[in-house]
Amino acid sequence: MNRIQLLRPDIPSADEVIPYLRQIDASRWYTNFGPLVNRLESRLASMLGSPAPAVVTTSSCTLGLELSLAALGLPAGARVLVPALTFVATAAAVLRAGLVPVLGDVDERTWLLNPEIARGTLDRLAIDCIMPVTTFGCRQPAGEWDQFSSETGLPVVIDAAGAFGNQDIGERTAVVFSFHATKALGIGEGGLVAARNQGWVERVRRLTNFGIDLSSGMSTAAGTNAKMSEYHAAVGLAALDRWPERKMNRQRLGAAYGRALLAHCPRIRLQSRPQDGSYTIMQLLLPDGVMASAVAAALRVRGIETRSWYQPLLDGHPAFSGCLVDRDIPVARTLAPRMLGVPFHLELDDGQIAYICTSLSEALHPG
Ligand SMILES: Cc1ncc(COP(=O)(O)O)c(C=O)c1O
Repeated sequence: MNRIQLLRPDIPSADEVIPYLRQIDASRWYTNFGPLVNRLESRLASMLGSPAPAVVTTSSCTLGLELSLAALGLPAGARVLVPALTFVATAAAVLRAGLVPVLGDVDERTWLLNPEIARGTLDRLAIDCIMPVTTFGCRQPAGEWDQFSSETGLPVVIDAAGAFGNQDIGERTAVVFSFHATKALGIGEGGLVAARNQGWVERVRRLTNFGIDLSSGMSTAAGTNAKMSEYHAAVGLAALDRWPERKMNRQRLGAAYGRALLAHCPRIRLQSRPQDGSYTIMQLLLPDGVMASAVAAALRVRGIETRSWYQPLLDGHPAFSGCLVDRDIPVARTLAPRMLGVPFHLELDDGQIAYICTSLSEALHPG
């Protein structure tokens, strides 16, 4: 059996992108809010609700997160609660916006930092903003975050890097998506900031373009260059053309694969996440007492790639080791050493899924 790769990006082919590239040739407009970026933004916005929220594309989700925080106008050093179980980009965006990450715990079933956990942290620590994460694509409860934000007066910006197609936009809550090559709507590099607060989204847009106010030509805040180019928008438009089919295939594959894993290995647990979601990661929780590293080694021998996503927890990285940690995050610390991501992509076939399932079962019950 050949090696089974962990991920296989699913990006439009050159033939699918060419009609859009020809439009760039014709317009000779390559970046700076060109016609393809405008079209991509309006197609994405209309997919995110009716009425459509305000949106702005960015060159990555990480810059979208940083600029979203910057556009809130919090004082330097303000504290932002983030989950300890996330990709480093979440906390890096906070630090690069001149703010201070505080690491919070996650729910045992969904693996999310949810409003209830945030309320607990607020009882113990002063917090100025919350950045929950759609861990492994699992939707955050936007309505509950709206209520949280109304009650506490704190802004909430959801890092929804892996949840395009799954995450809705709240009334008060902003959302930032990633279009990195490995995401469900992959375009190479890119991101999207979406919210109902049009003025705030316009501030983010200005920050993506050096802080320049286009009506006066003056830079009104120290921005950066985080614009999406027309070339990335071309890939994005081609990706949207086939999105419904891809989304459905991911949903079906994820559900069937999850069932097969549980049938072969009833002692593992999967993340509790909505069945109608379209995911790009299959991270397992191994039985108590089983180390992910040992199972990963056994699967590697069988040609199966794995990765323990979001390991170590944020405070295990030198860049974030000094961060304030709420109550030493007991749930995240218990889950982390048992988490293991197995291959998940649209090219997996039934034979490979069966092989992964039996190999995992044998790795869990050696001899
Ligand atoms: C939770 C989270 N936030 C942010 C990012 C960064 O996204 P991007 O690569 O588009 O900057 C990722 C990337 O995987 C992520 O998983």
